[in-house]
Amino acid sequence: MAKLLESKSVVDSQLEKLKKRVAALSQLGIVPNMRVILVGENPASLVYVKNKKTLSEKVGAQCTIDKLPENISKADFVSHLNSVVNNSAVHGCFVQLPLPQQLKDTPIAHMIPPSMDVDGFTPDSLFALMEGDKGEKALLPCTPKGIITLLQHYNIDISGKNIVIIGRSLIVGKPMSYLFTNHDATVTLCHSKTKNIKEHTQMADIIVVAIGVAEYLDETFLSKNKNQVIIDVGMNKKPDGKLCGDVHFQKVKDHCDSITPVPGGVGPMTVLSLIENLIFAAERKGR
Ligand code: GUN
Repeated sequence: MAKLLESKSVVDSQLEKLKKRVAALSQLGIVPNMRVILVGENPASLVYVKNKKTLSEKVGAQCTIDKLPENISKADFVSHLNSVVNNSAVHGCFVQLPLPQQLKDTPIAHMIPPSMDVDGFTPDSLFALMEGDKGEKALLPCTPKGIITLLQHYNIDISGKNIVIIGRSLIVGKPMSYLFTNHDATVTLCHSKTKNIKEHTQMADIIVVAIGVAEYLDETFLSKNKNQVIIDVGMNKKPDGKLCGDVHFQKVKDHCDSITPVPGGVGPMTVLSLIENLIFAAERKGR
């Protein structure tokens, strides 16, 4: 059985560091303040947003959720977002996705100032990543940042490794490819049109799966050497209601070196990164 790369011990150890940073800010009279904009009642979004608020409060930060109605007009949504980003008491904000149809083409990433962009989705944040930033300068996208933190916690080297990412989304696959490159890995970004995908995955040291297809990756994608590290970004619901990742855990668990579980792997790392970004944003504003 592969080693389980669980997030709990990572989150616990990082939380202690974050609490100290929040305590140092409070000496300056600053309490990190996050505003979350949630539109409608998407059940998964309600859970994610609650987790983000709970962790904010655990480190001593403030988090307010603005719940807006599903049928809000685009003009009202834009005006609400503008009021949040222009509020000087707010250090970080984000809009929980997905948005209802009438708001889908709102240029949110262009409306949030990079200094408040705790999701790491604005053009400035993404460009800093393309320039080689590892989080010194910009607020990094949360899932890629969380995956790096998890690998570092478990002493898994990244430099010089062959990394295959499956999925080219703007939130995970693409920024993850840049962040691994900035950490000196050699990255292959695979997607739905990649030919002979198993030839890529079988050669990888680390495989990251982020395509949103339940139990997609099985043992036939893996090297026979059982020495690969598997990072499962997926969070899917099976017909029986149980959660599963993009990796078929049961089929893969005896064919790799280590693997993130679902739940309890990448998901909590994403939330942790968001709170790190909030604290970083508050520290920068306090300077
Ligand atoms: N919905 C699913 N993942 C995310 C995320 O990382 N950020 C936001 N804002 N919404 C999401």
